[in-house]
Amino acid sequence: MSRRAPAFVCQNCGAVFGRWQGKCDSCGAWNTIAEEAGSAPMSGGPGPGKPYRKGRFLVLHPLAGAADDGPRTPSGLAELDRVTGGGFVRGSVLLVGGDPGIGKSTLLIQAAAAVARAGHRAVYISGEEAVAQVRLRAERLGLAQAAVELAAETAVEDIIATLSEGATPRLVVVDSIQTMWTDGIESAPGTVSQVRGSAQLLIRYAKRSGAAVILVGHVTKDGQIAGPRVVEHMVDAVLSFEGEGGHLFRILRAVKNRFGPTDEIGVFEMTGGGLREVANPSALFLSERDLGAPGTAVFAGIEGTRPLLVEMQALVAPTILGTPRRAVVGWDHNRLAMVLAVLEAHCGVRLSGHDVYLNVAGGLRIQEPAADLAAAAALVSSLANAALPSDAVYFGEISLSGMVRPVAQAAARLKEAQKLGFARAFVPDTARGEAGDAGMTLIAVGPLVDMVTEIAPKGAVRPGTPGAGEE
Ligand code: TYD
Ligand code: MG
Repeated sequence: MSRRAPAFVCQNCGAVFGRWQGKCDSCGAWNTIAEEAGSAPMSGGPGPGKPYRKGRFLVLHPLAGAADDGPRTPSGLAELDRVTGGGFVRGSVLLVGGDPGIGKSTLLIQAAAAVARAGHRAVYISGEEAVAQVRLRAERLGLAQAAVELAAETAVEDIIATLSEGATPRLVVVDSIQTMWTDGIESAPGTVSQVRGSAQLLIRYAKRSGAAVILVGHVTKDGQIAGPRVVEHMVDAVLSFEGEGGHLFRILRAVKNRFGPTDEIGVFEMTGGGLREVANPSALFLSERDLGAPGTAVFAGIEGTRPLLVEMQALVAPTILGTPRRAVVGWDHNRLAMVLAVLEAHCGVRLSGHDVYLNVAGGLRIQEPAADLAAAAALVSSLANAALPSDAVYFGEISLSGMVRPVAQAAARLKEAQKLGFARAFVPDTARGEAGDAGMTLIAVGPLVDMVTEIAPKGAVRPGTPGAGEE
């Protein structure tokens, strides 16, 4: 009678049900519930018939006290350190998520090699590739001589037993958590219970030993870290490795970080010799600029503490559909809708008969409202078929009343633009005083309509005229 009834576990959120059902009541996902044997131990209870054990006394510590020696291990990759907040923290667990093939294994073998080169013990456990395959990759990357210790293994108990031998490693990479399994749980590898159970053991190992552990997690089509979703709250930091299929840029972004900022990004380029750090991403994002083409504007943005210039491209074309299309890549759909509404309502730009496409070049994803002004400039430029000045940058938030509002860190944005050879900046009214002697011509935009008239003084867009924008 000791056999537990099977549990039905949602593979998306980890909710447990007594019977199978098509839709998870907890997260609303369909067809994610699978039968898992013996997944009950995760609840932490003593099980039927077993009494709770008497607890032992814990030592309670004061908040103040000496920190351990050098709690961070630099990864040797400045862009990675920027995102983690200065290196791997001892005893911490980091989850790196991303699409298959994006370069997670490449990034982490490079990091492991750098840690090993700095004279620390680094261990790389691959659950997906054989030792020979990992070696082959290291050879391609020119890292074959690095003293990284390798194993191809998926049994967590064996891995922890191996790691506990000898000196504590500074860095342990487990690639990937979906392939790991533990004896303590009966369900198949890759299920939520196994992923959670294995992660729990590895996290306990990290806390106990002081090694920094990195778990690799694959991301599903809809952008969730599959299975490891349930791991996200258990780990100290979650990094997401992103990139567009056709581009070589890869962006590392912190989604959660207990030891550092979450708004920094690290920029890499995938080359034949592995991932190369990009110290000056603005130059890279602007390298393929189409000078003199209508519909492009350069946005002077900020990612974390770093200014980042990127090109916004718009295409506005008469629609043949009843409901015109609005498509946006790399920016917020709702913000595009808002900018379009403001252009219609306050600037007399009619877009209801046009399809609108907006793209952030280079595969970058922008979250700042400061991009409003650049988006508006690109849109009007495309509609009017009038190219914007190629030496100008744009930034500013647009309010619903049609005014351009100030944004933070204007001086840093202008400095970066000047460094890259831009001579003019369209900025919010207040930015003029803040910028000081930026050495650039600043064009303060109060009401958005002023800029619209300047881009299209005559021609397709006639502010205030009904039907402006059409033939
Ligand atoms: P990989 O690190 O295996 O991705 P993940 O672990 O996220 O699944 O990266 C695989 C891709 O990277 C593959 O498509 C080839 C490419 N790549 C390079 O372009 N250059 C290189 O030096 C390496 C090692 C990989
Ligand atoms: Mg891999």
